[in-house]
Amino acid sequence: MQSAALRMEEATSVEPCTFVLFGASGDLARRKLLPALYRLALEGYLPPESAIVGAALPWMTTERFRADMREALERAPEVGPVDETAWRAFAQRLHYVPMDLSRGDDYQRLGHLLDRVDREHGTRGNRIFYLSLAPTLHGQVVEHLGEAGLTKARARSWVRLVVEKPFGTDLETAQALNQRLHRYLDESSVYRMDHYLGKEMVQNLLVLRFANRIFEPLWDREHIDHVQITSAETVGVEGRGGYYEKAGVVRDMLQNHLLQVLAMVAMEPPSSLSPEAVHEAKREVMASARAFTPERIRTECVRGQYAPGLLAGAPVPGYRQEPGVAPDSRTETFAMLTMRFDNPRWAGVPFYVRSGKRMAERLTEVVVRFKDGPLAQGTPNQLHLRIQPDEGMALRFATKAPGRAVHHHDVALDFRYGDTFGTRLAEAYERLLLDCMLGVSTHYVRNDLVERGWELVTPLLEAWGPGREDLPLHSYAAGSWGPDAAGRLLDAQGRRWNRS
Ligand code: BG6
Repeated sequence: MQSAALRMEEATSVEPCTFVLFGASGDLARRKLLPALYRLALEGYLPPESAIVGAALPWMTTERFRADMREALERAPEVGPVDETAWRAFAQRLHYVPMDLSRGDDYQRLGHLLDRVDREHGTRGNRIFYLSLAPTLHGQVVEHLGEAGLTKARARSWVRLVVEKPFGTDLETAQALNQRLHRYLDESSVYRMDHYLGKEMVQNLLVLRFANRIFEPLWDREHIDHVQITSAETVGVEGRGGYYEKAGVVRDMLQNHLLQVLAMVAMEPPSSLSPEAVHEAKREVMASARAFTPERIRTECVRGQYAPGLLAGAPVPGYRQEPGVAPDSRTETFAMLTMRFDNPRWAGVPFYVRSGKRMAERLTEVVVRFKDGPLAQGTPNQLHLRIQPDEGMALRFATKAPGRAVHHHDVALDFRYGDTFGTRLAEAYERLLLDCMLGVSTHYVRNDLVERGWELVTPLLEAWGPGREDLPLHSYAAGSWGPDAAGRLLDAQGRRWNRS
């Protein structure tokens, strides 16, 4: 099993292309996308002929854009001190085109610029259009690109489209968007970005599960009691109150990032690491995910919203006090779902999935809790997969404490990427952008999986949506591990969260 996504250091066959970034003046472009492209250039993965065209509304010049991007690189923690020689070469590849995305003429202008870039840089007509925009603009931009003839690849060239999340805002909008995209592009040219799939430990799930004989035979209902997936953030809504009010944690984190991680943990072994085989294995397992009925939502799911509290000793406001948030908002900033799969591997095994803002620690982890051995004395076997920060894993098991009496002691075999490899781990966006340049979509999300994600969370969005006050919205103090109700739910089943 091999995948370019897993063999970044061997990626030598990247073809030059023009990377067209819609939303180039936005936050994601500055914080993640440009720094990722710069790092790829620095490490020699971006062929010298490649170019980057920023497209956004502010009317500014290419010079101004370059200066802005330089500033963005200086602020990006993963970039470190900017290398002057590398920057000068990189800056020469940056171009800017001011665009009103609703005007067809502007796409003609874009087309002319791209032709010029092809001639001047030698990008050979290969293009990646990256949509880092509000989801309401995605369909419209693709239609305009299509009408301007820009979604058609020329002979011996390729055109790819990357769509940043959120992909639609519910099932209906996601389906409509997929249909619109497919009018102009084949599914094989559409790359739906979910940056959690670019994280080292998430990609490692394929190797861990399927290359090691010691895990896969135990990865089922016979041996596993339950699985916990936690994605906790210490940040609040970071000035995005307006967006978050409409989204909530289910749309923002669960429908996409956590369901993708869940699919990687629960899927059957794919027949290969080809994109098709991996997508198919994920489709299959998510098809067997049990639907949320009103009863399951009432008894197996919890929603919460952060109240004022303390983070690292400093007071922080509650969600309702954040700018752009209604003082009586009922938007959830924490959710915990019990996912169940009706298939032979997982029948009866709950997967507890939770995510929240303003939690005690920044931590994303998967905890696999194995069933007890016959002599177990309260020291369960657990596999902890730490996705961030400090990527690594620990296998916890009982050992006899030294001495004549038999006392069980909980110990761990611990592996940390930092200690073992000592190298910097590539950022998720670096890996995924490189994959897209290589034409490898294994770690992107296929249309049916996006739609399945929405289908699964629709009953939750309805039950917790505006105007629905019948189900409790639990308050939790900022800086805690979320509402007590999520702890009680596990307690009632004789289980407990790894971190609470
Ligand atoms: C984004 C969400 O998709 O993921 C943010 O919109 C969230 O609200 C972010 O903070 C978390 O990403 P990471 O990589 O920092 O865990």
